[in-house]
Amino acid sequence: MSLAGKVVIVTGASSGIGATTAEEFAKQGSKVVLTGRNEANLKATEAACKAANSKVELLLITADVTTDAEKIIKTTIEKFGQLDVLVNNAGFGEMGAILDIEVDQFDRVMNTNLRSVFLLTKYAAPHLIKTQGNIVNVSSIAGLRSFPSASVYCTSKAALDQFTRCIALDLASKNVRVNAVNPGTIVTDFQRRIGLSEEDYAKLLEHSKTTHALGRVGQPKEVADVIIFLASDSSSFITGATLPIDGGKHAMCPR
Ligand code: NAI
Repeated sequence: MSLAGKVVIVTGASSGIGATTAEEFAKQGSKVVLTGRNEANLKATEAACKAANSKVELLLITADVTTDAEKIIKTTIEKFGQLDVLVNNAGFGEMGAILDIEVDQFDRVMNTNLRSVFLLTKYAAPHLIKTQGNIVNVSSIAGLRSFPSASVYCTSKAALDQFTRCIALDLASKNVRVNAVNPGTIVTDFQRRIGLSEEDYAKLLEHSKTTHALGRVGQPKEVADVIIFLASDSSSFITGATLPIDGGKHAMCPR
């Protein structure tokens, strides 16, 4: 897949889609920068990457994407001297209808899901131009479709999709590709972090059989595999794409 030896940053590598994506890059022989806020969880991802490829070169950066974007890029360049792929995966959601939500929710969600991606992209772009590298953003089906009580999250991901397309155009003449994946419901801690109880999470997984055309939710590896594809030369003529990985959910309409 042409990713051997490439330097790849994965944000939010401490769990879920980010952790699995880091492992898949390790299998490809990439040099992987694992960044996230929780050092213990990053070390667990480090162990999984080493189990996948004992020779893998890794760099762990304990950092918050909302405040440490410049540090993440700078530390990567100091260690490896180059950057080939930026995977903007870190993100989170908060729920609430417009009549109930606090104004602060807007700032929290936008800071993580959008502003940090802007910052990381800005600091990474000069290095990606040098290597003819690329960016993969982890958006959501919530960027492509609208859901009640999720206005801020949906808006953050829709903006991320638009940002993906605009930056794809900004960097196309430099031969730097920029794409996004838009997952449906994927089995990670994401929904629990939003505040779903175990009972409500079980109900969501059951209900998801009807809201995803393929009749099931997805697994992190099903997203990671597409991120690998978009980061590799196998997708050399794809840029500005927002690709649903959602078992057909984006194609459905209630009736
Ligand atoms: P997760 O909660 O396991 O992973 C998110 C990661 O981002 C965590 O490691 C978290 O610590 C990190 N993160 C959040 N804020 C951060 C910050 N300020 N600085 C550094 N790291 C931060 O959940 P999952 O599912 O792996 O989420 C990954 C991405 O996938 C997110 O952007 C999410 O919006 C997106 N997504 C997830 C879906 C799902 O059903 N699991 C569906 C659609 C999109």
